[in-house]
Amino acid sequence: MNEFNGTPHNTAKVGDFAKTVLMPGDPLRAKYIAETFLENVKQVNGVRGMLAFTGTYKGKEVSVMGHGMGIPSIAIYSFELYKFYGVENIIRIGSCGSDLPAYSVIVGDKSYSHSSFAKDAFGYEENFMMPSADLNKAIIAAAEKLGKEIHVGPISAGDAFYSDPDIVRPEFPEKIIGGEMESFGLFANARYLGKNAACLITVSDSNSEGDEKVVISAEARQTAMKDMMVIALEAAITL
Ligand code: HPA
Repeated sequence: MNEFNGTPHNTAKVGDFAKTVLMPGDPLRAKYIAETFLENVKQVNGVRGMLAFTGTYKGKEVSVMGHGMGIPSIAIYSFELYKFYGVENIIRIGSCGSDLPAYSVIVGDKSYSHSSFAKDAFGYEENFMMPSADLNKAIIAAAEKLGKEIHVGPISAGDAFYSDPDIVRPEFPEKIIGGEMESFGLFANARYLGKNAACLITVSDSNSEGDEKVVISAEARQTAMKDMMVIALEAAITL
């Protein structure tokens, strides 16, 4: 039998990851979560700077790892966690654009996309992928317990952050409450591998205040994510 020696993107050993992994896009945010909220922390990956840590939160083992930007990036890291590291639950914790006010917290109950990823990788024809109902329930319960408002609704995952504002795209059949760039790929992987995924996002780019687009600073973005991080951690330890 061949010994498992990691993947080209992850040199962690089998057993280095907890069954639940929180994944921010930014690896430095993964480090921040580990340093701020976890005890007994061990760094388990550093390949390409995609930092991953395992530690304990309120006595329960949880991991946190960056996933980069866009569907192809999250799809590589999450597939490997599910397939090779025995990970059962991944909660993406990220940022999004929205018509809701900046700092609003959203959990996606469906992810629409024009991306070809799910068809290309797994033959899935739908233009939407679903999160785990159980993970979403745990996240919503954690938010309620903490007294934090959480918006639940359809989100979308686009391939382009910068695009021509005059381009007319096909509409999705439901009102989208948050736009990000990863959930569709994560949910497709979870579907294919029989695992659980959820997407919890904080509004960083809000269109709600008049016509001026309000964009929060990189530093404020990092600390504004705290509510969301605690919701995800509290949900993680109930799984
Ligand atoms: N669009 C897509 N992804 C994002 C955005 C956005 O406005 N903000 C943060 N991630």
